[in-house]
Amino acid sequence: MERRIYLTTPIYYINARPHIGHAYTTIVCDVIRRFYKLLGYETYFLTGTDEHGDKIMRAAKAAGREPQAYADEISAIFRNLWPTLHISPDDFIRTTEERHKKVVRAILQNLYDKGEIYHAHYGGFYCTGCERFYTDKELVNGKCPDHLTEPEWIEEENYFFRMSAHQDWLVNYINAHPDFIRPERYRKEVLSFLNEPLKDLCISRPRSRLPWGITLPFDDNYVTYVWFDALVNYISAPAYPDGEIFKKFWQVANHFIAKDILKPHAIYWPCMLHGAGIPPYQRLNVHGWWNLEKHKISKSLGNVIEPLSLAEKYGADSFRYFLLREMAFGLDADFSEENIRHRFNSDLANDFGNLVNRITTMIKKYCDSMIPVEETLTDADCTLLNQYNKVKDILPEYLENLRLNDYIERIMTVCRATNKYINDQAPWDQAARKNIERLNTILNISARVTCGCAKLLLPVMPEKCAEALANFGITEQDATALDSGFAAGRHVQAGKALFPRVIQEPSIPVKEEHKETVMENKPTPPTPESPLIEYEDFAKMQLKTAHIIAAECVPNADKLLRMEIDMGTEKRQIVAGIATDYKPEDVIGKTIIVVANLKPRKIRGIESSGMLLAAHGEKGLSLVIVDRPVEPGKPVT
Ligand code: MSP
Repeated sequence: MERRIYLTTPIYYINARPHIGHAYTTIVCDVIRRFYKLLGYETYFLTGTDEHGDKIMRAAKAAGREPQAYADEISAIFRNLWPTLHISPDDFIRTTEERHKKVVRAILQNLYDKGEIYHAHYGGFYCTGCERFYTDKELVNGKCPDHLTEPEWIEEENYFFRMSAHQDWLVNYINAHPDFIRPERYRKEVLSFLNEPLKDLCISRPRSRLPWGITLPFDDNYVTYVWFDALVNYISAPAYPDGEIFKKFWQVANHFIAKDILKPHAIYWPCMLHGAGIPPYQRLNVHGWWNLEKHKISKSLGNVIEPLSLAEKYGADSFRYFLLREMAFGLDADFSEENIRHRFNSDLANDFGNLVNRITTMIKKYCDSMIPVEETLTDADCTLLNQYNKVKDILPEYLENLRLNDYIERIMTVCRATNKYINDQAPWDQAARKNIERLNTILNISARVTCGCAKLLLPVMPEKCAEALANFGITEQDATALDSGFAAGRHVQAGKALFPRVIQEPSIPVKEEHKETVMENKPTPPTPESPLIEYEDFAKMQLKTAHIIAAECVPNADKLLRMEIDMGTEKRQIVAGIATDYKPEDVIGKTIIVVANLKPRKIRGIESSGMLLAAHGEKGLSLVIVDRPVEPGKPVT
């Protein structure tokens, strides 16, 4: 089997700035390509911009610019956006480039010479938004179903491609190749459309009406219809017919599009290729729409969401994670910023980031910063390792079926299981009991599985996962294959949170009363005037023992540590102003005393459910701890 894949996005119209919809398709391709690379495939990834046609000419006019200058400017915005979202295409094609025009002209001439193109009179309803004619039947209440605008009636002489002549071939081809168009629902939609006779495709526009396009090689009174021009990008970029890239990758071409442009890709394009004697692409992969309150996010509906501002707020990798995790390929998804925050705080900060942080912190504390060697494995160790191995092994199958959201969830399940494994195996107890072999084994297994998960998540979050792996001493060169890189003896680095928690309402400035007052450990000193209290007053306070199981610094708050504590029957998060006196690794494993029935409150936007006790000495703070091992959650009276 070919271990190669060629991935393409649609080439985007430049009548608008990029929005989240464009970002999604491009990120999906980038992620899939990185997964295939991890599996050892040779890959080629193309994106670009669609710069001719009515729509662009009007947009340029509205901006008071010449079409070419306007195209240069907006195309550059797309091109420059991709690296900031950690997307790295191999090529970026513009339809105004000569290398593209040359191939469009060659295909047109080829079809014309074969009698596949003819000249005729035509009248029809034309939607400028879609840049195409509509039949009566396709209109909904006389309006374009996509743009909800009334099309213009246009009559003119034009050139037509004999698309109808390829209908039988196309139906047979789709039937013989079940995964030519996928998911299945779109394949069915195309086949049902093909139940009706196919009309020939109008492939020209009179230059007098629309000068902005590629001149037909056989009649310079006309320019090429923008869809005919645009689709050819998939072969012009890899330099059809003789380019090495074309020869190497065309047979494994995978187009990725949303359902809005199914018809040109599933019908026009295969027929054009067939007419020109070029084999069809391998697969058309069709995803759904990102909606905002049930409406497609689009420039024409005026509800666009700028990808860059979200990436700036949450980080490019977190944004990628959100898009991939939240949408099932093929189905629509609703966008909400609340969901981004939720994914960020729960999946990334809490599950994955915390895991990396607590393991590296413990290896630093207990093993002199070196990944320890494992000794005899217990059932719990083997169960966790097997769970990870299973997820690693199913990657090809999930990738092949485009189940990326499910796959990410499988990885996160392993991260959560590893967090639980650490809580259950309590390495801090093994350290207290000087059971070094068991301590080493627990830390080795949890580090190994965590590095494995980081590697599986690399395609989704290239920068953050590289950082996580670097914390375990694994460089990008070490991490080329799925099983490479991890080794006992490597040096770990600990301390910096991978995903500093997002404050709940990021756009709202931190209010005065939310600032770290209570937890900053600035107690009011008892004064002679302080009234004495009754025992009943003291008894209202529930003091309990708690084990600190994880700790990290809170970004932009020098004094705060965020800790996860085990209270016996429950786990809680507390925030305390002890960071000037304690590093995260100093407190992990300690048994402290907390006020357990204090109302939760937010400190710098992070909820704190409890307060720890500390003494305020001349030389700083000292945590109140128990002097013999005590189980968590025990009352302190
Ligand atoms: N220029 C044509 C494509 C020519 S390809 C030979 C075009 N451009 S577009 O700028 O309108 O981009 C459409 C594509 O952008 C969709 O197919 C999809 O990939 C992406 N999306 C735009 N809005 C979207 C959503 N709301 N949701 C998901 N993806 C969407 O059509």
